[in-house]
Amino acid sequence: MGGRRSGCYPRRPHLLPESAIIASDTSPALAALRQATRDLHAALDAASPLTSEGFDGSDYLAYVARVIGWMRPVERHLYQASLPWPSGFAALARAQKTGWLVADLGGDAAALPECPYAPMPASLAEAYGLAYVCEGATLGGAYLYKRLSPRLAPLPLHWLYGYGAQTGPLWKGFLARLAEDVITPHQIEAAASSARLGFQTFERWLGEGR
Ligand code: HEM
Repeated sequence: MGGRRSGCYPRRPHLLPESAIIASDTSPALAALRQATRDLHAALDAASPLTSEGFDGSDYLAYVARVIGWMRPVERHLYQASLPWPSGFAALARAQKTGWLVADLGGDAAALPECPYAPMPASLAEAYGLAYVCEGATLGGAYLYKRLSPRLAPLPLHWLYGYGAQTGPLWKGFLARLAEDVITPHQIEAAASSARLGFQTFERWLGEGR
């Protein structure tokens, strides 16, 4: 691993067609989430092994094993905790990211360590903030899939492929539900803090694994 980094965050508006959809419909909640996490995403992108030039298949598997340790408790907290997700939220479709990661590992992930400080949302607004982090990762994943899949073949890269052709519709659906359910200043602040905590714990957990 190592080598010159080539992070893409500053150039992201040119990378995916979803940008156009997002830009035309920015709710107050989305604006706050973006504002609150922009610096954290940029730091994550800059430090990510995924954007490192020498990144290879064994680096990918090590990365995936570590991400499982964060994603598994996060998905448990988001989707097995009786949070009142609206019926149109597509929670079942969204709660499969640990599954993608485990499939990438191609083996038994039961013994992998779990992040003991994975965020635990205490309200639907906090859950939306944390889900923003997880759902947004599929946007970066789509970009990284295109970039890395030729080099890392024959690894399937389920985590980066994510929702595949459904990435745009599912992101758009997430933004629509977010706009409907995270409305008051209190809710928006709770979602933004929760999203920050999501990024911070993710970065800390990955950093501790290096
Ligand atoms: C090196 C790794 C990463 C790269 C290169 C990357 C890249 C990107 C790109 C290109 C977008 C914008 C897509 C668009 O505008 O249509 C994006 C959005 C986003 N990414 Fe990442 N990403 C990375 C890792 C992550 C991770 C690990 C997370 C979460 C843990 C994450 C969370 C987000 C979020 C929340 C958004 C949505 C921002 C918004 O439009 O409101 N990203 N990322």
